[in-house]
Amino acid sequence: MSKLALFGGEKTLDHTKQPDELFRWPIFTEEDETALLDVFRKNEMSGNNVTIEFEKEFAEWQERKYAVACCNGTLSLLTAMFALGLKAGDELICPTKTYWASCLSAQLLGVSVVFANVDPDTLCIAPDDLERLTGPRTKAIMVVHYKAYPCDMDRIMTFARKHDLKVIEDVSHAQGGHYRGRKLGTFGDVAAMSLMSGKSLACGELGILVTDDRLYYERALAFLHYERNKPENISSQELLSYVHLPLSGLKGRANQLCTAIGRVQLRYYDERIAEVRRANNYFFDRLEGLPGIRTHRVDEKDGSDMAGWYTPCVIYRPEELGGLSVGTFIKALTAETNFPFNTLGGNFPLHLHPMFNTYDHLGLGRPSRIAFSERDVRELDKALKPSENIIVIDTPYFRKLMPEQITLYADAFRKVIANHSELLAADSPDAVNITGQWYGQVK
Ligand SMILES: Cc1ncc(COP(=O)(O)O)c(C=O)c1O
Repeated sequence: MSKLALFGGEKTLDHTKQPDELFRWPIFTEEDETALLDVFRKNEMSGNNVTIEFEKEFAEWQERKYAVACCNGTLSLLTAMFALGLKAGDELICPTKTYWASCLSAQLLGVSVVFANVDPDTLCIAPDDLERLTGPRTKAIMVVHYKAYPCDMDRIMTFARKHDLKVIEDVSHAQGGHYRGRKLGTFGDVAAMSLMSGKSLACGELGILVTDDRLYYERALAFLHYERNKPENISSQELLSYVHLPLSGLKGRANQLCTAIGRVQLRYYDERIAEVRRANNYFFDRLEGLPGIRTHRVDEKDGSDMAGWYTPCVIYRPEELGGLSVGTFIKALTAETNFPFNTLGGNFPLHLHPMFNTYDHLGLGRPSRIAFSERDVRELDKALKPSENIIVIDTPYFRKLMPEQITLYADAFRKVIANHSELLAADSPDAVNITGQWYGQVK
């Protein structure tokens, strides 16, 4: 057994010296540049022509009737809630481990967020928890295909239909993924997502909402796009009196430099993520069965997949390595590779943040989260499972199948795991064990 790099042995690899294409993303070509320059030279950044073309192409690719683009994913998700008719006093169930934008804006509508457990293996909303959380004012469930893992849509949709609840899919991590052969984003009454630069489908700063329902589509248009909120586009009686001004009081128009990139990116997206999928499956195949870690990936046999694998990770199981702290484990991995292994990729559970407990944006003398609710939904948080035992380790995000290089990263895991007894002897209570973040909090 070779000596760990942490203790002076030879490194397994040097991450800083790997070929650029192993990780390069997004892939921009001259075609993106030409599309951008075209918008720029015509001074059409604030127009709608390119955006409308993008929406048509996106709706077709997403296999839904309608798409409405806007300036970011956060706003697309608020719009989804509005489109479904969520109102003050209604409740929205949302997993507690997600990026804040999945649900924080619900408070602007006076909607109360009810937090659900996530499954410790999939990191997605636990369908078992839905019954406990559902009350007379529950109107909708927000599901998040977290870190590209498809939620258990069969169980979620069955539950939702039985209780007459709407479903919103937050597809920000999983554009183009599938659950049992069906595309993510086609299950919910509405699906909405971020297409910002860090995402698999990376377009700059952009969000989009899709639906098959004409009313939801019109509400979304009327909410976000004052200049498209006009009688030619709106047929619903409930909306016709309010044309020409945005129902949100906000302006949500997309920057056309971003929708122009989106059009080009979309053309090559499926082909490119197929490569990402091959690369990350290749890596995870090499980690399968090792003690101490579980690969966070779906079994593809039933037609499910992880699309662009947005931020791949393994879930750490210290009990299988004699209780070795994750801090020491990732320190050894980093020493072995020069790759900055960390545990920041999982968001801290949202119910723990004061924004969901005490913040009162309306000055009503009640926390915003329960400003209009009939029950104090914060009480339901008390039965949430503690999240400390969900330890996420972000793994390198491979974009190209380069077997020789990828194998080395897997070798580093093998070496560290094989030597875990030595690490245990050196384990320190000071090891940094951060297992998530409020975004941007930790550098
Ligand atoms: C799950 C999830 N939902 C929503 C968003 C918000 O999207 P945006 O940053 O485009 O506003 C993000 C991240 O950006 C996210 O990760």
